[in-house]
Amino acid sequence: MCGIVGYIGTQKASSIILEGLKRLEYRGYDSAGIAVQKNGRFDIAKKAGRVEGLIKGTAAQKFSGTTGMGHTRWATHGGVTDANAHPHLSSDGKFALIHNGIIENYESIKRFLLSKGYTFASETDTEVLCNLIAYHYQKEPAVEDASRFLESVRKALRHIEGAYGIAVMCADYPAEIVAARKGSPLILGVGDGEYMLASDVSAIISRTQNVVYLKDGEILHITVRNFSITTLDAADVSPVFDRVSWSIADADLNGHAHFMEKEIFEQPAALENTMRGRFSEDGSTANFGGLNISAVDFRHVDRFHFLACGSAWHACLVAEQLIERFARVPVEVDYASEFRYRNSPLERSALFFTFSQSGETIDTLAALREAKRKGYKVLAVNNVVGSTIARESDGGIYQHVGPEIGVASTKAFTSQLLIGAMLALYIGRMRDLSFSDGVEYVQALKGVPDLVRQVLAQAPHIKEIARRYAKFQDFLFLGRLSLFPVALEGALKLKEISYIHAEGYPAAEMKHGPIALISEQCPSVFFVPSGEMFSKVVSSMQEIKARKGRIIAVATEDCALPAGLADEIIRIPECHEAVLPIVATVPVQLLSYYIAVELQRDVDKPRNLAKSVTVE
Ligand code: AGP
Repeated sequence: MCGIVGYIGTQKASSIILEGLKRLEYRGYDSAGIAVQKNGRFDIAKKAGRVEGLIKGTAAQKFSGTTGMGHTRWATHGGVTDANAHPHLSSDGKFALIHNGIIENYESIKRFLLSKGYTFASETDTEVLCNLIAYHYQKEPAVEDASRFLESVRKALRHIEGAYGIAVMCADYPAEIVAARKGSPLILGVGDGEYMLASDVSAIISRTQNVVYLKDGEILHITVRNFSITTLDAADVSPVFDRVSWSIADADLNGHAHFMEKEIFEQPAALENTMRGRFSEDGSTANFGGLNISAVDFRHVDRFHFLACGSAWHACLVAEQLIERFARVPVEVDYASEFRYRNSPLERSALFFTFSQSGETIDTLAALREAKRKGYKVLAVNNVVGSTIARESDGGIYQHVGPEIGVASTKAFTSQLLIGAMLALYIGRMRDLSFSDGVEYVQALKGVPDLVRQVLAQAPHIKEIARRYAKFQDFLFLGRLSLFPVALEGALKLKEISYIHAEGYPAAEMKHGPIALISEQCPSVFFVPSGEMFSKVVSSMQEIKARKGRIIAVATEDCALPAGLADEIIRIPECHEAVLPIVATVPVQLLSYYIAVELQRDVDKPRNLAKSVTVE
C-alpha cells in the first residue's frame, strides 16, 4: 500500500506534507514525492528511496505554496525508480496526481490515450489515470465554472476498474484538491482554517483530531474555504464528522530505538486497554459492546469462521483452539485470500469474524464482502476505528491498543490473542463453562499484563541470546496445540524483520521431514509448557539434540527440563492455558527484534513489506 498526504490552508504546505509523509512511511517506502501548487504551476520533487532522502533533496527548493500533496510508494506497477515515483503529471502539465491502489484496466485506457496523442514518462497505472483526467478536462466546455476540474475527475473515474485512493490538483484551480476512494482509505482532517487529506490518521493527528472518513465511491472536493462530498453519480453526500481518540504522542517513539521495541514494551498497557470494561458484573464472563448480535442469536451459532492474513491468521488459529477447548463449538480458520476462491460449503448457522489490525487488508476485506454476499453476518476484530473493514462489518470488537506503526505486528497480535481468549470465555459461559471456571478464567485474563511484564523483564537475557544466534541463517520454531500458531508467529517475526529463513511447525511434525534441516547451523526454538504435552515436547527436543541441533527453549517455570537438553532457556511464568499463547509470544518477539537489531536491519520498515497490504 502507499501513503497519501494533502494540505490546503495558510501555512507552507511542503513542511506539513513532508512531516505527514514521515508518519506514513510505514505504509510503503520504495519512493516518495511531493507537489506544491504556486501561480498556476507545480513545484515537484520525487525520487526512489526514503522520505528522508526526499527531504534532503528538496531542502534547497522553494516550495512556497500553501496547497500541495505528497506520496510514499509501495511499488505495484513499474519498478522502484524516480520516474515511477508519485506525483505524476499529465502530459499537458495541467494535472498532478497521487494514487494508492491498482488500476486493473490501465492498459486498454493507455492504448486509447496514446491514440489521442498523450505521452507517458513512467510505467505506472497511475500516470494513465492522470492523463485520462486531462483528456476529460480538455473535452469539457471551456466554461470556467468551479465544476470543470471536479467533473473531469468524476468522468475519468467512471472508466476505472480496480482500487484507488487518489488526490489530484489542477493548474487552473489553485488552492483546490479533488480526492476520491474506492478500496483504498482516505481521511479528511478538518483543522482551524485548513484541511488535510491522508491515507490514515497518523499523518494528520498532529494538526487536528476532527476527521471525516471517506467511503468507497465518494469524491471529495476541497477548497481553501470549504469541502464537499459527492458520489460518482454526482449525488451529494452529508459528511459524518468523527473525532480521533488518540494523540500524536501515541504515534511517537518516546525514547525507544524503534516503534517495534516501543510496541513490544507497551503490551502490558495495551492489553489492559483491550480488556477495559469488558467483563461482566459477576466477574464470570466477558462482555462486548459492539457485537450487534443478541446473546440468543450468538448462542445458536453452530460454527465460527475466522478470516485473516499473516499474524492475524495466527491469532485466529489460537482462538480456534481456545473456543473449541472451552466452548466446544467448531471453528474454521481460513486465509482470507483463499476463502474467496475456495467456495467451501458453509453451515447456515455460521458466524464469521475477520481479524485485521489495520482494517484495510484488501484480502480480508474481499473475504468479508464474499461472506456477506452469501448472506452471513461478519463481525470484525480490528484496531483502527473508522477503517474500511470496521465500517463494512456488521459489528465487532475494537482492540484499543493505539496505533501500531512497526510493520511487524506485536501489541496488535497479542491483543488479538487476548480477544480470542475472551471470546472463548464469552461463548463457553453461554454453554457448559461453569460460573467458578468462568471466574478463574477472568482472573487469569486480568493477570495477563503482569505476566507480560515478568517476561519483558527478561529482555537483557533474551538480547544476549539474540547476539549469539544472529549469525544463523535457518531456524525452526516448534510448538504444540495452542503454541503451534505461536511457533508460526515467531517464525514470521524473525523472517520479516531479520530476513533469516524460519519455519514454524507442530513439534511432533518435525520428524516428518523438517528434521532433515537440523544441523549445528539450524537452531530450533521450542515452546515447552508443563502438563500433558511436556514429555512429548521433550522427546522432540531429544531427537533434535541427538543430531547436534542447538535448542532455545521457551519453557514455563515449573518445567524440569533434563540437564543439557536446551542450550538456552527463556523461562515464562506458569499461567492459565487460555493466556499461555500470549505469554509465550513475548519472548520470540524480543528474540526476533534483538536479532534484527544485531544484524542492523531496518526494523520498523523491513524491505519489500508494508504495514497493511491494500492491494491484492
Ligand atoms: C505481521 O507482522 C505482518 N506485518 C503481516 O503479516 C500482517 O499481520 C498482515 O498483513 C495482516 O495485517 P492486518 O492485521 O492489518 O490485516
